[in-house]
Amino acid sequence: MNKVKAAITGVAGYVPDYILTNKELEGIIDTNDEWITTRTGIKERRILKNPNKGTSYMGAKAAKELLKKTNTRAEEVDLIICATTTPDMMVASTACIIADKIEAKNAFAYDLMAACSGFLYALSTAAKFIESMQYKKVIVIGADKMSSIIDYQDRATCIIFGDGAGAAMIEPNYEGLGIHDEILKSDGSGREFLHMKAGGSVKPPSHETVENREHYVFQDGKTVFKSAVQNMADVSEEIMKKNNLKGEDIAWLVPHQANLRIINATANRMCISEDKVMLNIGKYGNTTAATIPLCLWDYENDLKRNDNIILAAFGGGFTWGSIYLKWAYDSKK
Ligand code: UT7
Repeated sequence: MNKVKAAITGVAGYVPDYILTNKELEGIIDTNDEWITTRTGIKERRILKNPNKGTSYMGAKAAKELLKKTNTRAEEVDLIICATTTPDMMVASTACIIADKIEAKNAFAYDLMAACSGFLYALSTAAKFIESMQYKKVIVIGADKMSSIIDYQDRATCIIFGDGAGAAMIEPNYEGLGIHDEILKSDGSGREFLHMKAGGSVKPPSHETVENREHYVFQDGKTVFKSAVQNMADVSEEIMKKNNLKGEDIAWLVPHQANLRIINATANRMCISEDKVMLNIGKYGNTTAATIPLCLWDYENDLKRNDNIILAAFGGGFTWGSIYLKWAYDSKK
């Protein structure tokens, strides 16, 4: 019998109904559809308009759909990890709130923060719990309400982000399917180029921080762009070499959706053709921790058991990484 591996056994997602188009942004900031489309590949993004609903609302929607699709009773779930940069509140964790909302009474739950690489970090963590053989059903959620921390006066940043949530069920597999390898990295010196200045313990909220607009994401786009292209491509190439994989061996690249040009540069370095790259940036923009599970959700029907898949991300921290997995089930079409 093969050693136990951690496999994704179902995926689900949720995006809010409201569509913020490039055209609407033209009325808010000095920009145009042509600039946004050619510089980023984004046409529209979803926004959770209801001010009383936060990240857990979307995460719980995705988790509920996941339970239904995988025929899982909420009480069977052992653990919920929610990767998010936009928790509902500083205390309690969004994962605990989601567990409560879906009535996963036997699960322990916690958040994990690795910005746009959050889903990869959380998936890696979940895999370790499964491989320990102590836990059998782990839900990994990537969810962000980016609109809650975006400055809609900052035209270079606000155009790329959107709201959404994706969820994946992780279970043991004894047939050699599931997660095979990972390379995860971080470099905290990159925080200078992508961060939120206030609201944490260094600079708690005050009238001054609000007046200075310090509760929004600050991004030095060009520097982040260069680091993303370099590092996402590097780790993806490295994981292929480590596992003797060539471009033609890969069924799908599932890249973090921050900018189409970053995605294309990564695919080129991996010698992967365009038709094998999952893309939904055009309709959702950058949903931070949700981009990768939302891609898997959108493309689930195209996935086949045994497909070689590479997930890759880069984001704030800086954090970045690649995970190589073999898909564990055929589409449920
Ligand atoms: O997911 C987390 C990690 N984040 C990322 O991976 C994002 C990486 N960065 C990017 O994707 C890109 O840097 C952006 C899309 C955010 C910005 O694109 P850019 O090509 O790097 O633009 P820029 O900020 O260097 O600005 C270039 C020009 C500037 O004009 P000048 O100074 O050349 O006259 C900007 O003022 O484009 C101007 N510009 C805009 N023009 C129209 C910036 N934003 C806009 C806009 N519409 N929305």
